[in-house]
Amino acid sequence: MTQDNSSTGNEHVTLVDHATGNSYDLPVIGGTMGPKVIDVRKLYGQTGYFTYDPGYTSTGSCDSAITFIDGDKGVLLHRGYSIEELAENSDFLEVAYLLLHGDLPNKADKEKFNTTITYHTMVHEQMMNFFRGFRRDAHPMAIMVGVVGALSAFYHDSTDINDPHQRMVASHRLIAKMPTLAAMAYKYSVGQPFVYPQNKLSYAENFLHMTFSVPAEDYQISPAVARAMDRIFILHADHEQNASTSTVRIAGSSGANPFACIAAGISSLWGPAHGGANEAVLNMLNQIGDKKNIPEFIARAKDKNDPFRLMGFGHRVYKNFDPRAGVLKKSCHEVLAELGVDDPLLELAMELEQIALQDDYFVERKLFPNVDFYSGIILKAIGFPTSMFTVLFALARTVGWVAQWNEMITDPNQKIGRPRQLYKGETPRSFMSVNER
Ligand code: SDX
Repeated sequence: MTQDNSSTGNEHVTLVDHATGNSYDLPVIGGTMGPKVIDVRKLYGQTGYFTYDPGYTSTGSCDSAITFIDGDKGVLLHRGYSIEELAENSDFLEVAYLLLHGDLPNKADKEKFNTTITYHTMVHEQMMNFFRGFRRDAHPMAIMVGVVGALSAFYHDSTDINDPHQRMVASHRLIAKMPTLAAMAYKYSVGQPFVYPQNKLSYAENFLHMTFSVPAEDYQISPAVARAMDRIFILHADHEQNASTSTVRIAGSSGANPFACIAAGISSLWGPAHGGANEAVLNMLNQIGDKKNIPEFIARAKDKNDPFRLMGFGHRVYKNFDPRAGVLKKSCHEVLAELGVDDPLLELAMELEQIALQDDYFVERKLFPNVDFYSGIILKAIGFPTSMFTVLFALARTVGWVAQWNEMITDPNQKIGRPRQLYKGETPRSFMSVNER
């Protein structure tokens, strides 16, 4: 394949099929930043070939203007703003507005958006019945998959995806109700009564209040913890076309309602290779237990015959530090100091990171700590059980999923997602009756 950057501006690459001697010009399209793409939409029609890319390691699935990642430089931008600046200077609902609408809100728009979200935080009272159908020991992610999908049974007036107003109402409802449902999942698991949202509280304060307050006494919200919670939400808000976002997009491409699409995203995020890694990191650190055991686990992570992987390390895109991990590592120290928590797991995590980053296996494969490596230690210090970690990831990522879903629905090039395959099964054969087999 050769590239031609002809001055006419119609950049293309030429594919030569040596089996037939035919050659094909494929357009090259550039965006505002990042790799250009080879437009293969007509490849099958022209050549009879499919492309082949299991895991989509080299495939752009869509146009998007929401998030940009440079994996080699460890850069993450949301609508052009760096994650470091947003984490330092913005707040989660402002980032949600930015992801949804493309620009940071002015003061009036900010207040209007915050008020809109605040007044959607309650859920239909009958939603409680779903929770009571689960065993008390149900994993909160199992509950979230169920109850978020069930929202489509209650909010029929915001399921018409072709109505811009209904799309925005559904978007606001999802952003507003995820903390309420997440807190209810936690309360159900510990046998405490559900706590209603308080409109006078901020988004993060409301979530902490619904999660940790009990009717028997006043609950004092630590401003430092609320700020840390809000920052953790910002760091998990969106991340380009990751597995769960791609799941939301492909579910939405069939015209499914937004609540069902977000439930699909929650399901995908649950996997330990994706959002479930934050829970897996804490389980791994507890399994390692002591610094003296680190070499054994490093050896296991390198052993191809051992399925064990160093959870919280590695990333499909980042071949440098995940910028979110750097912010979370700094927050870890701040929050634990603020709470007066001396968690030996933090020391263990830092020792593990230091040893891994000096090991050729991890260095050669560019396996650095990712967003999940430090987040769990902060969440544990705040008081969340490990089983709630991925629920918090889903809560935050809902704003990204909703923004990407809206972008997909309004994309004029949008089509139902329907990949093909390399078939390796049986060639045609005749049916034989059971007596002949
Ligand atoms: C998230 O995509 C996103 O943006 C996701 C996310 C988001 O915000 O949405 O960033 C959130 O999901 C972060 C990732 C959380 N997952 C984990 O921490 C689980 C542990 N990490 C791995 O499972 C893995 O690194 C992945 C899944 C994250 C990425 O896997 P890839 O890109 O498919 O890489 P790979 O499996 O092809 O690995 C390349 C090599 C292999 O070795 P070789 O075959 O080349 O010898 O690196 C090795 C792998 O065995 N490797 C690891 C490893 N991760 C990769 N070896 C040990 N421990 C690891 N963690």
